[in-house]
Amino acid sequence: MQKKGRFTAEWIQKLKQGISLIDVASENIELRKTGARYMGRCPFHGDRSPSFSVNKDFFYCFGCKETGDVIKFVMQLHGLSFEEACEDLAEKAKIPIPESAYSLSSAEEQALYQKRIRVQKGARLNHFASLQFFHQNLVQGAGSPLFQEARDYLKKRGISDKIIQNFQVGVVGSQADGLVQYLTKAKAPLELAREYGLIRPSQKQAGDYDFFRERVIFPLIDVRGRVCGFGGRILPSCNNRPDQKLPKYLNSSESELFHKSNFLYGLFQAKRSIREEEVVIVVEGYFDVISLHQAGIENVVATCGTSLTEEHLKILTRLAKKIIVFFDHDQAGINATVKAMELGLKNGLMLYGIPFESTLDPDEFLLLSPAENLIKLKAWINEPFPLLDHLVEQELKASEADVEKRSTTVKQITEWLQHYTDPVGRALRVDQLIQKWRIPPSALGALATSLRPAQPQGRPGLPQGNPSMPRTSVTPQQGLRRKPIGAHDRNLLHFLAKFNDFGSLFVEARKQLPEKDTLSVMFDDTEVQAWVQKMSEDPNGFTLLKLAPENLVNEAISQELRSVIMEGLLQESVPGEEESLKTLLKRGIHKSWARYSQRLKAQMAIADASQDMEKFKELSEQFLDLQRKLKDFEDSYVSGKSNDPAQN
Ligand code: UTP
Ligand code: MN
Repeated sequence: MQKKGRFTAEWIQKLKQGISLIDVASENIELRKTGARYMGRCPFHGDRSPSFSVNKDFFYCFGCKETGDVIKFVMQLHGLSFEEACEDLAEKAKIPIPESAYSLSSAEEQALYQKRIRVQKGARLNHFASLQFFHQNLVQGAGSPLFQEARDYLKKRGISDKIIQNFQVGVVGSQADGLVQYLTKAKAPLELAREYGLIRPSQKQAGDYDFFRERVIFPLIDVRGRVCGFGGRILPSCNNRPDQKLPKYLNSSESELFHKSNFLYGLFQAKRSIREEEVVIVVEGYFDVISLHQAGIENVVATCGTSLTEEHLKILTRLAKKIIVFFDHDQAGINATVKAMELGLKNGLMLYGIPFESTLDPDEFLLLSPAENLIKLKAWINEPFPLLDHLVEQELKASEADVEKRSTTVKQITEWLQHYTDPVGRALRVDQLIQKWRIPPSALGALATSLRPAQPQGRPGLPQGNPSMPRTSVTPQQGLRRKPIGAHDRNLLHFLAKFNDFGSLFVEARKQLPEKDTLSVMFDDTEVQAWVQKMSEDPNGFTLLKLAPENLVNEAISQELRSVIMEGLLQESVPGEEESLKTLLKRGIHKSWARYSQRLKAQMAIADASQDMEKFKELSEQFLDLQRKLKDFEDSYVSGKSNDPAQN
């Protein structure tokens, strides 16, 4: 059985049949019916006019050329993996995920699977109930003076009710078992609440106590909108008690639901804006995310007290072209920024920075002087600089007067550049070091002489070598085109895709080609030729394509070719175009005969060289005959009369 990841092709087929892309798309974008399809503003690029075309099975954007089926739509829109997108859609369409998707060959695995399902469901119930408990405390709770303190505290920090709602912020008081009681009432399985660290068994007496206490609670909401953990900030009045030193923040521990190495706080709320802006800003703290959000900068996420990981980068590059690192400007933040930049380089990714040098963190900076500082922030964010260049400049300037220091600096820069897997980006920087900074090429070692491409480090998790990388993963064939597809090929392909009776016209044209030539010779471009060749080998190829254009999405062809065909499929006919098609076909036929004539000429040269006069004579007669026919054909081609070298 053919499988794609965990799922069989049959199941995926069933899933796609059970769901209309129009329904899924219209939950996210406003669609208007035009003819047989729907149009809206593309969610994948900053689209002003509606360029996004959708039908039941597939989408295509006339602007950014993004195309795909319902699964790809959900993947792109929410930044999910293929399997996650399938799971989400299956949930929506109420199509059960087959047990076979979990490779349950043994009884042991079966049992594990059952447990996993139970844990997943039970854990989700616990988390959801906990979120309600914390959030209700903040919005309307009267059971503890700390609830009011939290409301006042958030207000003082400039956090509005709307943001509290959007991020589902909450609070928990001093009561030892408030959440335990709430979960009991909600009939959530307490053993799982224990397993996931929401509550803990009491050492002194029977029963459990709450893990989070006396804290403002930030629910950790994953990219699909589900709570998977919590972060809690100590309330000011509970901090610095003489008897105990509590950590400022407590986070949920690692679990099946929450991995801090791939979690990004605020991503769920930010992703729409990230896609629109094609930029994401990574900050350090929960409060930074929500204050920037409140100020109208919504494309912001934070890591949960860890440094940026490769997994984070992978998620973000699916959604954004540019990643701006905006950490605190203390020593820890500066170090983390350099680490992030290095990690980016190793993955062929240039991370960006902004000239923020305040010792305040972004949230404090905004609160200090909201209107004025917002303008500054926006201006910086609009013109971020590559972190590498900034650091290189900074380090080189700082070491101008000190040869020893400069030597260390140059070594450091060389190391950075060696890690950078984008050869062009690297070469340009090397050039700049030599020209602008007057670093002797000999000091740059192998970098300056051979410019050998660096080997990608670590797991090949990210697409390599392009600072503004495409959001989709590309197959090797894609993106390798050297020349754009020419007008003749584009037009002919449009017709090929558009006309229902194109087949018969083509068959006619086919008859006029030299004996051994196939349809593909009508095209100039080699990729187009290969595709047409492949399609025409399948007797139903073109018919199938018209019936199910979404299949095009899976063809291993370049993005450019795909969009030319797709636009043809989506175009409506206009009067008079059949004539232009005939002209195009004639041009194709003519070229084909011209090539045939070249081949004859080559054969004549061989016959001549091997002094095979018989052969030479035969070929030159053919050749002369062909020249006459070609001349006639050229005349008719210019005058538009139907005539061709094969007839007459
Ligand atoms: P900060 O100490 O900068 O806190 O930690 P903050 O977000 O600015 O909070 P306020 O403004 O003082 O209230 C930055 C981030 O590091 C993580 C949290 O995610 C926090 O938002 N952190 C910090 C922890 O996980 N644990 C800690 O003890 C401290
Ligand atoms: Mn802060």
